[in-house]
Amino acid sequence: MYAIQNVYKSFDDNQVLKGVSLEVEEHKTTVLIGPSGSGKTTLLRCFNLLEMPDSGSIELNGASMTFQGGKKAKYKMEEIKKLRRKTGMVFQNFQLFPHMTVLENIMEGPVTVLKKTKEEAKEEALELLAKVGLTEKQNAYPRELSGGQQQRIAIARALAMKPELLLFDEPTSALDPELEVEVLNLIRKLVEEKQTIVIITHKMSFAREVADKVAFFDQGIILKEGTFEELEHSNIPRITQFLNMLE
Ligand SMILES: Nc1ncnc2c1ncn2[C@@H]1O[C@H](COP(=O)(O)OP(=O)(O)O)[C@@H](O)[C@H]1O
Ligand SMILES: [Mg+2]
Repeated sequence: MYAIQNVYKSFDDNQVLKGVSLEVEEHKTTVLIGPSGSGKTTLLRCFNLLEMPDSGSIELNGASMTFQGGKKAKYKMEEIKKLRRKTGMVFQNFQLFPHMTVLENIMEGPVTVLKKTKEEAKEEALELLAKVGLTEKQNAYPRELSGGQQQRIAIARALAMKPELLLFDEPTSALDPELEVEVLNLIRKLVEEKQTIVIITHKMSFAREVADKVAFFDQGIILKEGTFEELEHSNIPRITQFLNMLE
């Protein structure tokens, strides 16, 4: 089980997370929705400690960390890295290494972090490239790929680390509609494989389709969580308006 408990986070005097708790079940898909600026990305980044909570706790399948009084020094970088390694993150804007080929992008983590041999890392990278349907692009550089292709490579790169928990932050929002489909199809495949997934998306049709649980964010709190249908029938105007506004 993965959980965030009572997490608070401020940037200067802007309190962005105001006591957020969220449980993420293994092999399920949890979808975060809500207006821009409500704190979704910040929460996702707390899951892998790209942001340190000021207070609260984070539990990733047995490993847990508690934060208090905004102190950062309590945990050593080694411990943070160990926890972070359980997660794989896919960003809105892909964030591939521009000076590396597709194959090198996917092999980088396994070789430098997991200390795999280049042969082993390459073999696994090629398997992942087949899975995301981009074998023929193995020697291309990111700039030579479409946005949809870059995002599929970014997903392959995340999978190469064999994360327990996959985190997606609006993975298709930088893509034209015709490129969105190939990325959504790949995520569908991961959902069917029963990966543990947390995804932020504004695509309500997709959320409805894949979510085991949806959490609706508003101004730094989770206003409501439940199945998509439960949110639709929540009679909370904030939520129903939001759901009706988006396709
Ligand atoms: N690194 C940061 N430094 C300062 N403010 C930030 C930082 N990250 C996010 N914020 C602020 O936190 C608020 C919530 O942002 P975010 O978590 O990105 O929301 P969402 O993903 O729901 O749009 C915004 O007001 C944003 O400006
Ligand atoms: Mg965001």
